[in-house]
Amino acid sequence: MKTKILKILRNADGFVSGQAICESLGVSRTAVWKVINQLKEEGYEFDAVSNKGYRIVNYPDILTKSEIESQLDKNDIIKKIVFFDETDSTNNRAKKAAEEGEESGTLFITECQTGGRGRRGRNWVSPPGSGIWMTLLIRPDIRPDEASMLTIVAAMAVSSAITKVTKYDAKAILSDEKDISFADNKIEQCKIKWPNDIVLDKKKICGILTEMSAEPEHVNYVVTGIGINVNTTEFADEIKDMASSIFVQTGVRIKRSHVVAQFAHDFTEYFNRFIKTQDLSLLVDDYNKMLINAGKTVRIEERGDAYTAEAYGIDNEGRLIVKVDDTGEEKKIIAGEVSV
Ligand code: BTN
Repeated sequence: MKTKILKILRNADGFVSGQAICESLGVSRTAVWKVINQLKEEGYEFDAVSNKGYRIVNYPDILTKSEIESQLDKNDIIKKIVFFDETDSTNNRAKKAAEEGEESGTLFITECQTGGRGRRGRNWVSPPGSGIWMTLLIRPDIRPDEASMLTIVAAMAVSSAITKVTKYDAKAILSDEKDISFADNKIEQCKIKWPNDIVLDKKKICGILTEMSAEPEHVNYVVTGIGINVNTTEFADEIKDMASSIFVQTGVRIKRSHVVAQFAHDFTEYFNRFIKTQDLSLLVDDYNKMLINAGKTVRIEERGDAYTAEAYGIDNEGRLIVKVDDTGEEKKIIAGEVSV
């Protein structure tokens, strides 16, 4: 009921009377009043005027189930939010729930991870309040060798969500024209470093870790874990030259739930394109526009070998097409580290 009340208030143009809420949900005045009080405790600020009703004037920056679910659309692939104040890793939670039969379209999200995991066995620092630590569980009807393309789909949705929300929230909070154009310029630099790191002005602000359970011909489930540094200002010595956050790069303090909801819409759009052909043919053009490496020299590290090449963009399977500097040979890179 909290999600429904929040959705009514969020979508209302002005005040909504307690009576109107009661009638549309078929609940008592006391029940509505209790939920309004819970929302106040969570940090929502209301204008309450007798004879007019309630209006939310300030939203807290929280990632609760009702805060996110009240912003989802009925066509979104994400149908359900499971929120933890703290957990070891949302990927671990998602995998455990998947094994226990949790349905496709569930998003696991937390304020803080105590054992956040990155790629290549690295850890992922995930302190409270500073970022978005979430994992999407889906059960797509695809072959195991097609699953890595889902990470590309997710990277596109994260990049586009960050760009849209940061611009939108910047307009709401920055009053100075100069500040807005500074933020806009920086936001335009939100790009993807192949295959799926999100960078702002060349600094990594988001990483994605996809894991799956599969049989030879069939995927049981895929969990896509996404870590976005939103407000982080301190980074460990070993990553501080490469890593940053949306706030540090743009000066904008976005509402994290807006990014999650926008990600849900954009992921749905890109995933629907992917599933039509089960490859990236309907996405490559958009991806290559987001790709920071396109048309640039990249340094590639592949199984102990390192060389430079010019990157063109990805093919329909997500491989990076490059021309090796030394030999002029054209290659398609399947996996490896690429630096900008
Ligand atoms: C990377 O190394 O670039 C990938 C980082 C992925 C971090 C996210 S945070 C949410 C989810 N839970 C985890 O333990 N890892 C992923």
